[in-house]
Amino acid sequence: MKSKLRLGIIGAGSVVREIYQYLYFRSDYSPLLEICAVADPNEAYRDWFGDLAGLPPARRFADYQTLLAQVELDAVQVNTPDHLHCAPTLAALQAGLDVVVPKPTAATLKDCHAMIQAAQQTGRFLGVDFHKRDDPRIKEAEARFQSGRYGTFQAAVFYMVDRLCIANPNHSPRFFASPDFAEKNTPASFLTVHMADALMKIINLVPVQVRALGYAHKLPALEPIAVRGYDLVDTEVLFHTGAVAHIITGWAIPDTAWANTVQSGRLICSDGLIDLALDMPGLREIHADGIFEVNPLFKNFEKDGRVTGYGISGPGRLYRQILDLRNQRMSEADQRESRSPLVLGFHTALVLEAAEKSLAAGQRLDSGATLGTTIDLRQLVVAELGAAAARDYGYT
Ligand SMILES: NC(=O)c1ccc[n+]([C@@H]2O[C@H](COP(=O)([O-])OP(=O)(O)OC[C@H]3O[C@@H](n4cnc5c(N)ncnc54)[C@H](O)[C@@H]3O)[C@@H](O)[C@H]2O)c1
Repeated sequence: MKSKLRLGIIGAGSVVREIYQYLYFRSDYSPLLEICAVADPNEAYRDWFGDLAGLPPARRFADYQTLLAQVELDAVQVNTPDHLHCAPTLAALQAGLDVVVPKPTAATLKDCHAMIQAAQQTGRFLGVDFHKRDDPRIKEAEARFQSGRYGTFQAAVFYMVDRLCIANPNHSPRFFASPDFAEKNTPASFLTVHMADALMKIINLVPVQVRALGYAHKLPALEPIAVRGYDLVDTEVLFHTGAVAHIITGWAIPDTAWANTVQSGRLICSDGLIDLALDMPGLREIHADGIFEVNPLFKNFEKDGRVTGYGISGPGRLYRQILDLRNQRMSEADQRESRSPLVLGFHTALVLEAAEKSLAAGQRLDSGATLGTTIDLRQLVVAELGAAAARDYGYT
């Protein structure tokens, strides 16, 4: 019986600094993981991580292909930017490894579909770390909503806005390892996907139409490096029942905000309302540096040095599933469920691609606002993946 997974890390940028270093080295899941190698073309980040993991120079690679060819592994975690999730994932699954990626599954529907298909065809495990699925407030809301307590879902407003220092490449230290991250990504890809996934987990409905509004005031005015991108995006998602959600996300609120991410959400139903109160995680700090909302539910730095919280247990659970699969302890039904489109974030990738297409085809006003067009999701799935695949995903 296997008790440890030999793990290779592909990409060691900000998400590893912010979250996964604690999962790998200071969590209840660390004993399950043996970090064997890292691949990252950025030498500084590769060596930061290599030193942290105690890896010899021969286990530090500039590209993932050499890592996969030279190191005996059970699994890899692909922490590259969204548009680079697909290729390393396919290569690893086809080499017989299991894979974990941070959200979103991929930047495009085509990539997401290819990843789901590869997991299904190889029979290997693919897990997407949507850590909000492990937030006790989201789980409780899901159970209560699905018990029928609130009646029929009608409308929701969610918001998630980051401090400007996250997207601002002029800020020191820079948040992202990739200098063009804020330009290659949008609030929709970095943040909307969290909320869209959490909402769809609660209400369990199929999205059918998306329209986005974008606002570009701060980012293009940054100096000396300007960012061609949106400060804020409002994504309107219509579900097949006619219910609607507005998911408002951005990364340009002042750095004086009480946390890196300011967020919450409300759902209004025929017989009740759910207020997620995500911004009241329980610890408010008045300190010489300022006033902060500390979120120990997400990352709880305990006094013995361990780090717990849903930011850690979300991905940790995926590694337990991999271990179960490798020890023949995962039932066929659980394996099928783990490879289902909802679990693998298909609908979330669909909302993301539709929001970006909506803005790309939208009308840009002199005010800095862009009025996106309406995107029919069935038509989008058919255009991107063909009618047969669209039917398989429930878009008939
Ligand atoms: N930063 C966060 O807090 C956070 C939270 C949740 C999810 N995510 C997700 O994590 C992923 C990575 O984001 P990030 O914030 O760490 O970005 P980042 O730009 O800080 O880091 C990405 C790293 O991947 C490396 N990389 C690029 N191409 C590579 C390749 N071919 N092989 C190996 N490494 C390669 C880069 O050099 C860089 O070090 C994204 O999908 C993002 O949405 C990030």
